[in-house]
Amino acid sequence: MQISHLPLRKFVAPEFIIGEHALSKCADYVAVFGAKKALLVTDPGLVQAGWVSKVEQHLKEQHIHFERFDAVSPNPRDTEVKDGALLYRRMGCDMIIAIGGGSPIDCAKGIGIVVSNGGSILDYEGVDKIERPIPPLLCIPTTAGTGADISQFAIILDNARKVKIAIISKGIVPDISLIDPLCTATMDPELTAATGMDALTHAFEAYVSNASSPVTDMHALQAIEYLSEYLPGAYQHPLDISYRSGVMLGSLFAGLAFSNESLGIVHAMAHALGGLLDLPHGLCNALILEHSVAYNFSSCPERYRTIAEKILKKSLASESDETVRNLLQSYLETLRRKLNLGNKIEIAAVDEQTLVQLARVALRDPCVVTNPRTPKEEEIQALYAKIL
Ligand SMILES: [Fe+2]
Repeated sequence: MQISHLPLRKFVAPEFIIGEHALSKCADYVAVFGAKKALLVTDPGLVQAGWVSKVEQHLKEQHIHFERFDAVSPNPRDTEVKDGALLYRRMGCDMIIAIGGGSPIDCAKGIGIVVSNGGSILDYEGVDKIERPIPPLLCIPTTAGTGADISQFAIILDNARKVKIAIISKGIVPDISLIDPLCTATMDPELTAATGMDALTHAFEAYVSNASSPVTDMHALQAIEYLSEYLPGAYQHPLDISYRSGVMLGSLFAGLAFSNESLGIVHAMAHALGGLLDLPHGLCNALILEHSVAYNFSSCPERYRTIAEKILKKSLASESDETVRNLLQSYLETLRRKLNLGNKIEIAAVDEQTLVQLARVALRDPCVVTNPRTPKEEEIQALYAKIL
């Protein structure tokens, strides 16, 4: 391998414990932080699945006090961050435990920002806007996809404007993440598919990002290998922990990659779409990803060739760019069908004005900056038209 130059890059990651029964370490880590009372941030589905009571049991056994905030929506709202922060202050909490997928974890990050820095969570949109450190944050991911448990990203819905804001800062990298594949076994097939495709999208976008580096490339490509190998099995055999572990590893590697060199147009478009229509993030990504490959391919054909070789497990050196692009698109289309994700968002016809609005919001998203090709408004509209 020949290195012509080494661009300046940083790599941020939290401490994490990965493996079966990692969840059982939660009380030990609360004790490590010396916390008097923890705020548990989660959602009603996780309460019903039994994971919240498991965590609470571990805390009770070590006489650790806690309060539960379980009112987080699938796309966490600024209003929920505000309510969680009020509860944190009122109950005298000094640590946050997030249990769930990306939504409770992002909401927990938001609560941490507000209790330490004041104001509204919407004041912190953008890159490096957080001045004071947030309280200790322990994450227990229960989906395998978002990477929120190890990333420096939080996505919050501005409920009044129906726009998702992105907060990117080293200040919201969790202190510790307990990554337990057993926690993902209660995900239904639909959620397994959507979150798994979110992870695959992270890996694709990270690898072709114009801010990529050898350190993040390694994680992105490893993620692509794990996810292409294990995601279909996790969907078909939800209780088989070997598939769940493979997808969890893939999600972790993808998270480490994208947290450090950001994403691209798929996420920019998914944020705008999910914000306006309150749609699942993973589903939006899954539908846009293959179209982004067609759109971006000519900007970095060698990068996409490497991705295709990882997935198909063979050399494509003798194939033309066009063949590689077709192979990759056809792989993604087949995977999408296997995971029963459809090919369009099932909503009433979208008018021209909505397409314009979506494209404008997407172009303002920070993820656009690292896309390998700079998109025009009409190009983003045309991409939206393929899935709406
Ligand atoms: Fe994502």
